[in-house]
Amino acid sequence: MNPHYSNYLLHAKVDGMAKFLRLEKIIEGEKNSLDQISSYYRFNEWAYRRFHSHDGFKHFRISANGCFADEDIYHQPDAVSSFIKPGDVVVELGFGSGANLLYLARCHPDATFIGLDLLPLKSKDVPENVSTYQQDYSNLSRFEDNSVDVMYAFETIVHNTDKEKIYREVRRVLKPGGVMVVYDYALSARYEAFDAHIQKAIALISKGGAAAMIESLDELNAHYTNCGLTLEKWTDYTRETLPDLKRLERKAAKILRRPRLARLIFRLFSQQFTSNIIMGYLGYDAGNAGVIYYVEWVLRKP
Ligand SMILES: C[S@@+](CC[C@H](N)C(=O)[O-])C[C@H]1O[C@@H](n2cnc3c(N)ncnc32)[C@H](O)[C@@H]1O
Repeated sequence: MNPHYSNYLLHAKVDGMAKFLRLEKIIEGEKNSLDQISSYYRFNEWAYRRFHSHDGFKHFRISANGCFADEDIYHQPDAVSSFIKPGDVVVELGFGSGANLLYLARCHPDATFIGLDLLPLKSKDVPENVSTYQQDYSNLSRFEDNSVDVMYAFETIVHNTDKEKIYREVRRVLKPGGVMVVYDYALSARYEAFDAHIQKAIALISKGGAAAMIESLDELNAHYTNCGLTLEKWTDYTRETLPDLKRLERKAAKILRRPRLARLIFRLFSQQFTSNIIMGYLGYDAGNAGVIYYVEWVLRKP
């Protein structure tokens, strides 16, 4: 679809929803906090399994050929896999339901895997080379300096306001030459550069996923380098996520294009769930219009 048309649709969707939903109230909502993030995931676990991945992955599929395929969910863990060697210590920040951690641990039985998340790992079938801790990963005091070979974080750091606190800890615990792989969202320009409608769409998308306000690519790149990490490469995968985003948009549109049904659902269900529907409704057009990028970063400790 033409990016300009997506931009037009973002405006029309924000205006359309404003006729039957109190968007300001949704945007103001609950403040972004660790409690809010964990309760969002506790509440939406079933929705992620039902609508996103039965296997418990919570990141977007990267479909290189432009067509949706379920197995495209493995792009991110496979990218990390290429950095792992026998004997390595590998840490996942924000392991979610553990799907990446368990997949990679089975692929690399000679490496040690440690996962950190606000919620505990529920899986019973956990390989011996995996341990998990329920904690905020902006404090990595359980790790010695220079002790980790590979770290990775998929679609999780976006939840946190103080990203430099996290990256200072990442730099401290990585071995010299160690690598950190991040997949996350970035605005194509600073928030202030967008018009009022697009700003509202960005705020609704951020809120919908219990994220902090999404930052621009330049701001995110500055965080990494301010913390002493080298930006080895960044790749824009936005186009490749559009098939997955389109799939979710179609589901959300079934509700949000019917004002009566939407009003009822928004009255009956908690905002943790309903604002997620808005995120699904706007996400495809935000990606296609070039407002929000989906980026892979490979960072190195010098
Ligand atoms: C979108 S899910 C991604 C899960 C997993 N990385 C995946 O790709 O399937 C984000 C996860 O990050 C976790 N998270 C966010 N901020 C966190 C923090 N400060 N400390 C620990 N976990 C955090 C959430 O609890 C959630 O499970």
